Amino acid sequence: GQRVGVHAVARPGAAKARRTMPAVEAKRVAVLGAAGGIGQPLSLLLKMNKCVTELALFDVAPLVKGVAADLSHCNTPVQVSAHVGDAELEACLKGCELVVIPAGVPRKPGMTRDDLFNINAGIVMNLVTACAKYCPNAILEIISNPVNSTVPIASEVLKAAGCYDPRKLLGVTTLDVVRANTFVAQAKGLDLKEVDVPVIGGHAGITILPLLSQTVPSVTFSDAERKALTSRIQDAGTEVVEAKAGAGSATLSMAYAAARMAESTLLGMQGEPNMFECAFVQSDVVPGSPFFASRVQLGPEGVAKVNGLGQLNEFEKAAMEAMLPELKAQIEKGIAFAKNPP
Ligand code: NAD
Ligand code: LMR
Repeated sequence: GQRVGVHAVARPGAAKARRTMPAVEAKRVAVLGAAGGIGQPLSLLLKMNKCVTELALFDVAPLVKGVAADLSHCNTPVQVSAHVGDAELEACLKGCELVVIPAGVPRKPGMTRDDLFNINAGIVMNLVTACAKYCPNAILEIISNPVNSTVPIASEVLKAAGCYDPRKLLGVTTLDVVRANTFVAQAKGLDLKEVDVPVIGGHAGITILPLLSQTVPSVTFSDAERKALTSRIQDAGTEVVEAKAGAGSATLSMAYAAARMAESTLLGMQGEPNMFECAFVQSDVVPGSPFFASRVQLGPEGVAKVNGLGQLNEFEKAAMEAMLPELKAQIEKGIAFAKNPP
């Protein structure tokens, strides 16, 4: 693939297909939860992104004013604004074409992502309700956990508001791909920049399924390697939660991953033809699972095409069967919450 932005890589055949584009199109991007562990470094990376012209930072914490003041001193052309509390959601979201949502509480050791549901479900519902009202055409990228449930919640909120476009709602699973690429490159002695491993399913435990058999460049794994790498990728979030020992979960690698996802999305919106990322989206790729993460092509309106899964090996087929009941239950839990909020 060819590097087309700071993080984004267009593949395949991008070199041939790439067009000359204006350096900057007006793009207003919001980060909701911008004062947090992910929100701050993500906002910095977006302040450095040439696709962005305005960066609107929102949080319930007044610290977001300081974050915006701090970032505004970086001599990059992105205009930064700060918005605190629900009363300022309108000012934040008006005119936004992309909204990235890392608002919500993170895990502590011993917790599953589903343990965050009770707090984060309401937060996502509230924020997406505001998006439906103030930027109904924006692309929404949800980071808040549990992603397997918060994305279905968002879809129900948007449906109820009459502005649901499945191409414009994505659960961010880029960190799973980033981790898979890193761990596979390390295990196999490959160039970190060249490795690409699709990760499908969802974003929790066994619903995270790296398709190691589809690794680019083509590599072979022993049964033991395949099992160990799959588990490490599935448990990588927990690895960070334990290392941070109660002070939160992955923030810097997540900001890096979300910045890559945002950049690919913005380039797709600008007409860059070969932008592909794995994401958790509405999907009919797997019967019975209305949402599923797989590789998608990003275009002017968000998701232009949801790719199929390709050929799975026996290990991956078994892992896929094993995950489905859990994934479907987490999706249904989100839908039920949104249809009948407490
Ligand atoms: P954090 O506690 O450091 O930051 C969260 C921020 O959200 C805080 O600034 C808080 O004030 C803000 N917030 C809370 N309620 C809000 C609301 N109603 N509106 C706006 N902002 C609100 O947490 P973090 O480490 O940044 O993690 C945030 C979320 O991202 C967690 O749910 C975490 O599990 C999730 N996460 C997801 C992935 C992924 O791969 N999708 C990776 C890492 C973390
Ligand atoms: C991650 O994968 O790092 C995030 O989902 C945060 C977590 O709780 O593990």
